[in-house]
Amino acid sequence: MALKEIITIPDPVLRENCSPIEDITPELKTLMQDMLETMYDAPGVGLAAPQINIPIRLIVMDAAQKEDSDEKEPIIMINPKILSSSDDRSVYEEGCLSIPEYFAEIERPAIVKVGYLDEEGKEQERDCEGLLGTVVQHEIDHLDGVLFIDYISKLRRDRVIKKFAKAKKVITI
Ligand code: NI
Repeated sequence: MALKEIITIPDPVLRENCSPIEDITPELKTLMQDMLETMYDAPGVGLAAPQINIPIRLIVMDAAQKEDSDEKEPIIMINPKILSSSDDRSVYEEGCLSIPEYFAEIERPAIVKVGYLDEEGKEQERDCEGLLGTVVQHEIDHLDGVLFIDYISKLRRDRVIKKFAKAKKVITI
């Protein structure tokens, strides 16, 4: 297993529409484990493949992590798709490993039903609610090049993007 580098805005890969996965190869299985390791190390509750510079439809999550416990409940979803969303909405303060140290309250459907392939390529469906409901929507957004800052006002978004563009320049000089 290996830790992968997480890319940050304004990297254009984060805005790509990611490709569906056709085959579950040994390389893909290694990638899933690398993504989980990278997510736990960050630490984060979710990670999408484009965030490690690979624009394919693969996400990993663990919304059950607690500070005082090593128990893990990793979830891997290949080609995930939201099949239905509740009318009920919930609000969480979201962040993103690709937009470090920026947080904003985002409102989303409280419960979503997600269809996906598991790591063995078997079709699955899962109702996701609570924190997992928000995380899975945030990660699936990544596969369509959508970031949580797209839900805040343009003024605030432009400010965040500008800040990161400037920071990047300083590093590359
Ligand atoms: Ni994110």
